[in-house]
Amino acid sequence: MAEESNIMDRVLALELVRVTERAAVAAARLRGRGDEKAADQAAVDAMRRELNALEIRGTVVIGEGERDEAPMLYIGETVGTGKGPRVDIALDPLEGTTITAKYMPNSLAVIAMAEAGSLLHAPDVYMDKIAIGGNYQADLVDLDAPPGNNIKALAEAKGVAVSEITACILDRPRHGALIEAVREAGAAIQLIGDGDVAGVISTTDPEDTGIDIYMGVGGAPEGVLAAAALRCIGGQMQARLVTNNAEQKERAKKMGIDDFDRKYTMQEMASGDVMFAATGVTSGSMLNGVKIKGNAIYTDTVVMRSSTGTTRWIKAKHTHLTKFG
Ligand code: FBP
Repeated sequence: MAEESNIMDRVLALELVRVTERAAVAAARLRGRGDEKAADQAAVDAMRRELNALEIRGTVVIGEGERDEAPMLYIGETVGTGKGPRVDIALDPLEGTTITAKYMPNSLAVIAMAEAGSLLHAPDVYMDKIAIGGNYQADLVDLDAPPGNNIKALAEAKGVAVSEITACILDRPRHGALIEAVREAGAAIQLIGDGDVAGVISTTDPEDTGIDIYMGVGGAPEGVLAAAALRCIGGQMQARLVTNNAEQKERAKKMGIDDFDRKYTMQEMASGDVMFAATGVTSGSMLNGVKIKGNAIYTDTVVMRSSTGTTRWIKAKHTHLTKFG
């Protein structure tokens, strides 16, 4: 971004914290109620309200769905006051609707913002992903290589035995062969029920999270959000859309995608200057969940910018509770 908008950028990064905080608190009030839709709706309403107060000319490129299926924060919706920089926005007001409804770990309110035209417009289909943290040689792992080869390459680069590597994989029947191959190679697997944005980001801090590599098929929107985070914090990621039928291909085409087999790099999914923020709804590998105690609400947020590589962890105590509805 130009120097002038860089100042704006710094302010905006902190504004994003407010956006994810509000969405997380709204969803947190509905944790453990068994109602995924209500929790999601509460997060969507709160995030949209906050976004519309920002001095941006924003377009949602990854959102709650296509216009005919999502009344709010749909793909193509414009948000913000209509003044300020033109930006692309990828968002997931509640990443992990089921885990929130069940009060399980790792649900987040997530947003990424970038210069207009910088984020991959991915349809709501699946995406095959592989990700590792930073400080490795370029292309150390490859989406198309056998899983065992990737595990071995990573172990070698880390200077550890394969048995010390842990892969994070979504616990889904579609991953049967992948799980078998990773175990056969000798690595451990942390199976997660949901929430692969957190799964991918966890690879950037293996000391803390115990996760060295993310592998497998999850949502494409979540893939773009994770790529945006890795662009800021450092890491490697490759991905490919998984379009299973003509209808999904048609949706991808509408978003300007015609090569369905294309392997995307992290930079191709999130280019230019990118910002990313996430607030924990339930506690997880990366963030504490929202705590509501008497007259105060406590939130835990991470916010990052690619232009500086700064990652800030913001623990907030909120006492002006009317702002949270
Ligand atoms: P939702 O918040 O939309 O429920 O997504 C949760 C999630 O686990 C994502 O993190 C992941 O990318 C996707 O669902 C996987 O999809 P599926 O549950 O269909 O395997």
